[in-house]
Amino acid sequence: MIADFEHALAARCKVDHAVVVANGSVALDLAVLALGIGPGDEVITTPLTFVATANAVLRAGAIPVFADVGEDRCLDPESVARAVTPRTKAVITVDYSGLPSDVAALKAALPRPLPVIADSAHSLGASLNGRPVGSLADITTLSFHPVKQITTGEGGACLAADAGIADRIRKLRNHGMTSTADERTGALWKYDVTMLGNNHRLTALQAALGIAQLRRLDSVVAERSELADRYDAILIDIPGIGLPPRPPGRRSAWHLYAIEIDPAGYGCDRDEVIDALRAEGIEATLHYPAVHLLALYRERGGVPGIAPRAERLSEQLITLPLYPAMTVTDQDDVVLALQRIHVWATAGAVRS
Ligand SMILES: Cc1ncc(COP(=O)(O)O)c(C=O)c1O
Repeated sequence: MIADFEHALAARCKVDHAVVVANGSVALDLAVLALGIGPGDEVITTPLTFVATANAVLRAGAIPVFADVGEDRCLDPESVARAVTPRTKAVITVDYSGLPSDVAALKAALPRPLPVIADSAHSLGASLNGRPVGSLADITTLSFHPVKQITTGEGGACLAADAGIADRIRKLRNHGMTSTADERTGALWKYDVTMLGNNHRLTALQAALGIAQLRRLDSVVAERSELADRYDAILIDIPGIGLPPRPPGRRSAWHLYAIEIDPAGYGCDRDEVIDALRAEGIEATLHYPAVHLLALYRERGGVPGIAPRAERLSEQLITLPLYPAMTVTDQDDVVLALQRIHVWATAGAVRS
């Protein structure tokens, strides 16, 4: 089941090797370790992500260096280029909300060649100029958490074109052993341990679920895209709402539909909008507070001003509900609530 799931994933993502693991956070840990990153090394990444991305760098004993995001809300190539030092060992870009990062543009801007890991926890099923996520970066990591495009309960994967990288990830997934339990048959009962790994395996039961889920990927992405298009069409008329970016050539997997609130145009700030939506029973939320400003990262030198656009986005973004079973009526409820909050907010401003 594990091998079948890995083959199916590799084929779908047009990449030579897929290694499935316990979750997307472990996938990041193993990607970092497979590149030989350790104490004293620097890894450039984005603050506009789930904390798991930067934590993988810290756990390896290395230093996360935060660059800013561009208009696409993924890492900005110029900002990354400026952050490169002699100690930089890799870049981890994040396909924010399901939009694939332009890894080729990132690589072209670098002052010297560096491996790029794409944290594609949001973007399985997306593509850039027709090339699927998984085939764009040196290592791509995926998450199969229940909120993602496909799920195995918990689960994740590393995808890589390089056989050596994939082999190191396979070993790290299984205590650094030179063979798996399945391979130790007959005369082949001996094994060695060549690196410090752990049990990061996905179970066969989860892999069976993953195989079935993968067959639904295209329809899930299509349903999400349809809802995202509809959100765009009906939100456009509300003042002060910025719609998600749609750079040419990129097809998002629409894991998230995240709008920007411009308080001057909309009438109140983002936090008030989230509170008001929640008061209406609509589970709007934020992806993400800027990682370098979280307490753990402030203790390690994170200060405001490092990444102005990501910091502004973390003040202005709202993730609206988006899920394949969402009905048009559900979606209209969300938009109506946003219209009403805008009317209430601007009326309040007039009164005061
Ligand atoms: C951008 C990003 N990276 C990594 C992860 C971690 O994945 P997992 O929850 O499977 O450990 C997530 C999870 O939501 C994520 O959003």
